Amino acid sequence: MHNAKIIGTGHYVPENIVTNDDMAKIIETSDEWISTRTGIKERRISTGENTSDMAAKAALKAIEDAKISVEDIDFIFLATYSPDAFIPNTACIVQSLIGAVNATCFDLSAACTGFIYGLDMATQYIKTGRAKCVLVIGAETQSKLLNWDDRGTCVLFGDGAGAAIMTTGEEAGVLACYSGSDGTKSWTLTVEGVPVRNPFVEGNPGSMYDLQNSTIKMDGKEIFKFAVGIMIKSVDELLKISGLNIEDIKYVVPHQANYRIIESTAKRLGLDIGKFFINIDRYGNTSAASVAIALDELAKSGNLEKGDKVLMVGFGGGLTYGGVIVEW
Ligand code: UT7
Repeated sequence: MHNAKIIGTGHYVPENIVTNDDMAKIIETSDEWISTRTGIKERRISTGENTSDMAAKAALKAIEDAKISVEDIDFIFLATYSPDAFIPNTACIVQSLIGAVNATCFDLSAACTGFIYGLDMATQYIKTGRAKCVLVIGAETQSKLLNWDDRGTCVLFGDGAGAAIMTTGEEAGVLACYSGSDGTKSWTLTVEGVPVRNPFVEGNPGSMYDLQNSTIKMDGKEIFKFAVGIMIKSVDELLKISGLNIEDIKYVVPHQANYRIIESTAKRLGLDIGKFFINIDRYGNTSAASVAIALDELAKSGNLEKGDKVLMVGFGGGLTYGGVIVEW
């Protein structure tokens, strides 16, 4: 078995900053409501860049950070629920944008937990020798899936991308991976797909379909209840798997869905909130990109030293959840 480690990270967000006051010009809301209920002050919204564009920019930064050649990459796992298209997969588009000619590329769909699932998969591919160098990306253009008339959702989400390069390492890098799903709660966060419509369906509705209703619908309260409990369970499982104590963890990088979820998790774990890396105020919830962007910002902050242990943890539509502990 080989060791798997992260050797470089990068992120990219659109330049267009949309503040809470800007949102209040579009729908009935206020900076006061959004800030106190979520911790969000502003988010980045694409003015035309699609998921592959942002993913490629984040990937190039991670490649530069890792000091590898783009030809070294043998797999690209791209986590998103807002791909450019059904076919080709967005990972293939990124491959062509960055010139990763030796990579096998595919997307994975696990909403906000996508980047964590991707790190887990890359770890297993590297451990078994199937891969030597994996580019893991979390990227979303949620703005194209939002119902901009629904104040309960459109104020929460943002666009962006984050990436990590994983390779085999001399020393241990990834110390633990944990994941799970609860499909019985799949109804709590949805974006409808294409219904079955073909000449063999009763009434012969034909093959035309209308994606106008494919916007994000969410039961925020139900997810909130699920989130804190599952973050704590994931942390407990990760500590058990790694044999570490919570005191051994230098930073927790949580999914940035709501400041209050992070705060409650910190409280129930008995941890200082200062141990949690938080950037939700600047980006909102960027789903699969959330943990990836936060990890890169933490890495570039100068606060991480070699040997520090970082615990990433998240949850999302599906419902999905999980986490990874890495030694920096
Ligand atoms: O990434 C994973 C996916 N999602 C999540 O993790 C979301 C988890 N859930 C949450 O973060 C919170 O449940 C929300 C932020 C979504 C909502 O907060 P809440 O405290 O649960 O508010 P609520 O939905 O119960 O709404 C309270 C009130 C309602 O008004 P009434 O019925 O009390 O008069 C809403 O209509 O706030 C109203 N409201 C708003 N008011 C101003 C809802 N959205 C807004 C808004 N601006 N944007």
